[in-house]
Amino acid sequence: EEVFHFGLMRGRLNSLGYDYGDFEAHGHLWDMAYKTAYDPLLRMALVPRVLEARGLDVTPGIRAKVAQRGDVETCDVLDIIYRDEVGHVAIGNHWYQHLCRERGLEPVALFRSLIAHYDMFIFRGYVNIEARERAGFSRFELDMLEDFEKSLKQDKKAV
Ligand SMILES: [Fe+2]
Repeated sequence: EEVFHFGLMRGRLNSLGYDYGDFEAHGHLWDMAYKTAYDPLLRMALVPRVLEARGLDVTPGIRAKVAQRGDVETCDVLDIIYRDEVGHVAIGNHWYQHLCRERGLEPVALFRSLIAHYDMFIFRGYVNIEARERAGFSRFELDMLEDFEKSLKQDKKAV
């Protein structure tokens, strides 16, 4: 699906006279894929559950901007990507839970410690709770994470 998405986005760039590589873009997802390549549990925790889930937060805003410009074709592409990415986060949640069970680890506590260790965050700016719930996050876990991140922020201020 990621390859399919790339092809769709490249098609949109091409139709506007550009190509992949013409614009600067960050490589956070790719960097994290390298960093987590040695452990599927770590990969599931930090790539789908943090970074791909972040895509669910930002895509509706990007789509609204594109719609304002009247670019219906790009909106259609963003809709496909958004729909599929909910599935990617859901797959990440499934395998994260599975690997935690297999290793006898408590998933919520482990996730909190990984978030802190890798200096990552979920609750900054708009958080798409509805899409995260569809992707398998429980309201309970999301509430716990929000409280945890607030306490991390307070700890940093106190230092
Ligand atoms: Fe994805």
